[in-house]
Amino acid sequence: MKPSPTILIISFSLSGQTKGLLTNLICGLASSGCQVQHERLQPLVPLRFPFGSMRKTVGMMIRTFCRQRIAIKPLSSACHRKYDLIILAGPTWSYNPSGPMLSFLDRDGRRLLQNKFVLPLISCRGYWRMHLWGLKRLLHQCGAQMANAMIFSHPAKEPWRTLGVFLKLSGKHPEKMGLLAGRYLHYGHDRRQLAQAEQFGRQIGRSLQAGEALRDLRFQNASDRN
Ligand SMILES: Cc1cc2nc3c(=O)[nH]c(=O)nc-3n(C[C@H](O)[C@H](O)[C@H](O)COP(=O)(O)O)c2cc1C
Repeated sequence: MKPSPTILIISFSLSGQTKGLLTNLICGLASSGCQVQHERLQPLVPLRFPFGSMRKTVGMMIRTFCRQRIAIKPLSSACHRKYDLIILAGPTWSYNPSGPMLSFLDRDGRRLLQNKFVLPLISCRGYWRMHLWGLKRLLHQCGAQMANAMIFSHPAKEPWRTLGVFLKLSGKHPEKMGLLAGRYLHYGHDRRQLAQAEQFGRQIGRSLQAGEALRDLRFQNASDRN
């Protein structure tokens, strides 16, 4: 009998959105016979969410725009086993991968990802193109190959989505605030996207079992692809 495909997921999630998508993706992978090892990147100094004020949120956005790294704890030894696929999952921060993900790529990228197929999962408000482009470049520098990409944008409409995310990060409740009430229903992804993540897990599992290339999978439905 063919051995089960093995997948390492390396993730970071500050406000729980990537985490929710991964819970569903992992269900889909497991139901299609994959063995999944999940490693969560842990900042050395825990980050606070929400940031607590508009001033602190703007400060964080400026630092992340400059790709400030956030130091992370060492990875577990399980990351150094052999895997058929590595999934890198996390949010977009000011058009870039998050600070912990950048630290991971700097410190462990070449050792762990060289000659590997890497599949990114991005959770974002809606502006992911620069993130994906930069990540592709960083993966190339690590000697890895990007197999495809799963992108999930928050489904709320603009300009309420941007306002809502900013207010949420600052510690406010945009769903209940004046002009936004009724226009911005909730922060983050919706149930349809969580179900899609599970479906993507099943698709990935089936492709790996069949020895098919992941680049042929179509993940376009995950978001409105802004
Ligand atoms: C500091 C910071 C900067 C952000 N910048 C962007 C951005 O440039 N583009 C975008 O689409 N979303 C941006 N977001 C929103 C997050 O990508 C989005 O809320 C994501 O779903 C959070 O995922 P998480 O809960 O797994 O951390 C930013 C969030 C933070 C905290």
